[in-house]
Amino acid sequence: MANNSTMQSLLQCIVDGELLHGVLSSPWKKRADGPSKVSIRPVLIKSRQLYQVTTHYDQKVMHRNVTAEECAQLIAESLPEVFKQGIFSTATASYHVLVNAQQAMTIIHKASKQTAPLPLVHNRSKKYLLQEGVPIPFLIALGIMTAQGKVIAKKYDKFRQINRFVEMVSDVMSHLPQERAIEIIDFGCGKAYLTFALYHYLHHIAQRKAHILGLDLKHEVIAHCAKLAHDLGWSSLSFAVGDIHHHQPKGKVDLVISLHACDTATDAALDKAVQWDADVILCVPCCQHELYGQVKNESLSPLLRHGILKERFAALATDAARAELLTCQGYDVQVLEFIDMEHTPKNLLLRAVKGQAPHKQAQAKERYQHFKEALHISPFLESALHNHQKKWPKNFFDFSPIKDVQDIKALRKDLKGNLPEDPLA
Ligand SMILES: C[S@@+](CC[C@H](N)C(=O)[O-])C[C@H]1O[C@@H](n2cnc3c(N)ncnc32)[C@H](O)[C@@H]1O
Repeated sequence: MANNSTMQSLLQCIVDGELLHGVLSSPWKKRADGPSKVSIRPVLIKSRQLYQVTTHYDQKVMHRNVTAEECAQLIAESLPEVFKQGIFSTATASYHVLVNAQQAMTIIHKASKQTAPLPLVHNRSKKYLLQEGVPIPFLIALGIMTAQGKVIAKKYDKFRQINRFVEMVSDVMSHLPQERAIEIIDFGCGKAYLTFALYHYLHHIAQRKAHILGLDLKHEVIAHCAKLAHDLGWSSLSFAVGDIHHHQPKGKVDLVISLHACDTATDAALDKAVQWDADVILCVPCCQHELYGQVKNESLSPLLRHGILKERFAALATDAARAELLTCQGYDVQVLEFIDMEHTPKNLLLRAVKGQAPHKQAQAKERYQHFKEALHISPFLESALHNHQKKWPKNFFDFSPIKDVQDIKALRKDLKGNLPEDPLA
């Protein structure tokens, strides 16, 4: 079959909902902010067959669900212009599309043995760290699972969120102490679904010792969590009533967690984590109102003049500023999708791991300063870091562009030995 008609037959299969799996790979131009791969699979959402399109970037992965027509259009627009390769399979055929240097396509089309289509269930084959079917006492106690290990239908999103969270922790285990118990604080733990999940994962799956403290302002919630930890016999999990802003740990803290703590409570948690030199920070910000009243930029007026757009932009700007400020402090920061947008808009997770090349800190400072000046913002986290870091140069955040490590060394010299132990090395 000629290439054109083979492509048409592939697109028709997609429109007819027959695609079982597809991957677009090998982008033409490897841009830092461009996608490296797109994978596609069918999903059933509220009885409607859609395709889930997963776009992989350097440091993040985005999911969206599209109609069959939109999916076919996406593939038609991506081949041959964006990607050099596409592999697609239906129950009866496979299509391997290869694009040459002149952007001409060759399509290898093979009939395959008839296989039964996979059942269409959202996240159907995901192998979770906490599995359904195995009764897990804390999930039963929290009302997420039945005693037989079945996830209660209306708690499925929570079950998925818990699994996503432990997955993200499992990715950073190598950055946490190996030879002793890991010291963890969960700031603004609330009902502590994720705190219990973390304890379960560390002790019962990863087989690691850990002491976890859940802190929250609410007495009743803390009393309830403490009782549950006691009932489960989890002696290394404790809870305390307290304010993030004033909490002082008894010793080293290796991992700081702050999930959906309100507005600048998130910044207080990040500030503490930096202050204590935590190895890893996991943070899902929530209700970011702080910059809404500050952000100004004439060129962005088409965006900022609409309240809802301004609100979303200000929230994203807050997270961008946080990521840069943590990078300035020597963290490698990733902004990840916590769970699908369709479940909650509060779905970004900042994952920061200590250990950053000095030049990256200098670049982050420069980026941060330009960003801040362009938007006329003065984020709480910057002042918090500045306030507790009396040891930092007075002008550390009053930015004058620092070009390279040499400049930073000169800046450090001005401190006359007053810096914390080589934070830029
Ligand atoms: C939306 S809940 C999130 C609970 C939990 N982390 C989760 O993700 O499921 C936010 C919690 O942060 C707590 N919180 C807000 N500000 C706080 C502060 N300054 N110190 C301690 N806890 C705080 C609130 O009491 C509330 O329980």
